[in-house]
Amino acid sequence: MGKDIRYSSEVTDQFVKHAIDYVGAGVVITDPSLPDNPIIYTNKGFEKLTGYPTEEILGLNCRFLQGEDTDRDDVSIVRNAIRNEEAVVVELKNYRKNGEMFWNELELYPIYLESEQKTFFVGVQKDVTERKQNEELVSHYLEEVSRLSTPIVPITDTTSILPLIGDVDDRRLNQILERVGEHVQKTGERNFLLDLQGISRFHSGVHHGVLRLYQLLDMMGTRLIVTGFHPKMAMESVQQADFSDQNIKFYSTVKQALSFLEKENR
Ligand SMILES: Cc1cc2nc3c(=O)[nH]c(=O)nc-3n(C[C@H](O)[C@H](O)[C@H](O)COP(=O)(O)O)c2cc1C
Repeated sequence: MGKDIRYSSEVTDQFVKHAIDYVGAGVVITDPSLPDNPIIYTNKGFEKLTGYPTEEILGLNCRFLQGEDTDRDDVSIVRNAIRNEEAVVVELKNYRKNGEMFWNELELYPIYLESEQKTFFVGVQKDVTERKQNEELVSHYLEEVSRLSTPIVPITDTTSILPLIGDVDDRRLNQILERVGEHVQKTGERNFLLDLQGISRFHSGVHHGVLRLYQLLDMMGTRLIVTGFHPKMAMESVQQADFSDQNIKFYSTVKQALSFLEKENR
């Protein structure tokens, strides 16, 4: 049990006000009963984050922090949450007074004040620029790794080969389909070889990937030839969707596929 220590509400209000000033995040309170939901309070954290002194922005709507590059869909999410008096968390591109862009993780929630008999909105703003930039960098590198691990190599005027390496998940499969689609549209090639020799696991994702690639190429008038297809894979694929209805050619090695193409062209 704690000791009974009491201070007047005036003193605790002062403590809370100071504490809010130093929480290390921006805090804004707005009054939606006034025209355009203006700011009625900001803490020191908000001034530090945005560079705007409180007296310059009292009475304004917070949208002055947005700019041309702020995603309008995210702004709509905020607008709807306010309209429905709901809490929401969004990451918005915002701009400081000196024009510098920062990523603002905005937490917004309504608070009903019994004494005023109305709802106010509290916004808590955190600068998450570093995390967003790291995420962007990671996604750029993943894209690059995926591009490098999906090299489409032209081997004759009418044929290219894609040697697949590693594992194929949904994300990679979509990138592969997109890249092969673009390549075939540009070159108008007759044959496309997919070499599965370097695939670590022939699971249902790869199986369906082959079928989707076949459908895509078929629509574009290009024939799919699958190489590096081993008996074990064939057994596994029998248990999954059927390849036999499709007009896909299978060879165990690239060499066999190439000699077939050579004979066909004679
Ligand atoms: C308490 C509160 C804090 C807000 N803080 C921000 C903010 O830091 N950055 C921002 O871009 N928008 C912020 N907004 C959102 C805008 O004020 C506005 O609601 C939003 O742009 C959608 O309305 P509009 O389409 O009329 O502009 C905040 C809104 C409220 C209610």
